[in-house]
Amino acid sequence: MILVNAANGNQGKFLIPRLLRAGATVRACVRSEAAASGLSAAGVAEVVVGDIGEPDIIARAVRGVDKVYHVCPTMHPLEREIGFGMIDAARAEGVKHFVLGSVLHPHLTALVQHEIKRDIEEHLIASDLPFTILQPAIYMLPLKLKPAFEQGRYTVAWSPERIQSLVDIGDVAEVVAIVLTHSDDHLAATYELSGAERLTAHDMARIIGAVIGQTIPVEEIDVETFLHALFGDRDRSSLDHQVRAVRSLNTCYSAHDFVGNANVLRWLLGREPRTPASRSATSSVNDKGPRTAMLPSPMLDAFPRPWQARRGRRPCT
Ligand SMILES: NC(=O)c1ccc[n+]([C@@H]2O[C@H](COP(=O)([O-])OP(=O)(O)OC[C@H]3O[C@@H](n4cnc5c(N)ncnc54)[C@H](OP(=O)(O)O)[C@@H]3O)[C@@H](O)[C@H]2O)c1
Repeated sequence: MILVNAANGNQGKFLIPRLLRAGATVRACVRSEAAASGLSAAGVAEVVVGDIGEPDIIARAVRGVDKVYHVCPTMHPLEREIGFGMIDAARAEGVKHFVLGSVLHPHLTALVQHEIKRDIEEHLIASDLPFTILQPAIYMLPLKLKPAFEQGRYTVAWSPERIQSLVDIGDVAEVVAIVLTHSDDHLAATYELSGAERLTAHDMARIIGAVIGQTIPVEEIDVETFLHALFGDRDRSSLDHQVRAVRSLNTCYSAHDFVGNANVLRWLLGREPRTPASRSATSSVNDKGPRTAMLPSPMLDAFPRPWQARRGRRPCT
């Protein structure tokens, strides 16, 4: 039995079908009954529903499993405690392989989410559990740039001159499935997962512009505008962690490029990592025609969902 956390999330949506096709028995952890129903219908054997920040949910999720894929839901305020709790529970349970979904360059401790993942990596390595650590670059997701197409502008909350590496979310899920189903080949490994492109916001705008056949201007928005777009009028005092995380993104992504190297991912996949162009040509996850489906969307998925449903202008990060 393999436990997959955040099972209906960006990675999970690609990973769960892969694992099921490979014949794995999967236990999923999600927050909502709606997600649980969908996963059960898809063939997931067991689903644990609840807040993964609760120790009893962690205990229930890990009990009796052989392997764990722990990726923490985006910007959960208890991410560090959850990571430590998962590792400790897995150790007590005698888990045979703990795979951690981390992030590219977790040593960039000025980034809130990175510092937490650095700490969790350390805790895992020191746990004596058989482990593998996966460090994806910024996700390149399908179906996330529709707002940019609709609004005709590309907005970022940091310097549009900065260069960033992306990774196709399907490639990430493919690697996770490979690692989980061939554990012995990947024990004690730490793998950076980055695509080959290094793109500025201007490059992104050019890619979108080429697809829709018009010039797409780049607009840099300030962090307050960005936060409002993400969280609306929600009480900021209940979002302290998320606000700090977003501010750290804004500062660091303006001060430095954020780039990786595709060599490791190329080796793991046994092929070239997907590019925006190759993805758009082959995508099957597409309701708007292949060209728009897989353009890179570096950051949209890094933030909570509610703003995605709102209408009107919003940042395309
Ligand atoms: N965005 C990027 O570019 C990027 C790059 C590298 C690493 N990362 C890291 O990747 C991780 C996120 O991965 P992801 O985007 O695949 O996940 P995600 O989409 O944020 O995960 C959503 C899933 O988590 C579940 N979930 C949300 N809150 C929960 C809670 N309190 N308790 C239990 N389950 C909960 C949701 O359940 P329901 O479906 O029931 O709502 C859903 O299934 C983060 O740690 C992030 O830092 C992100």
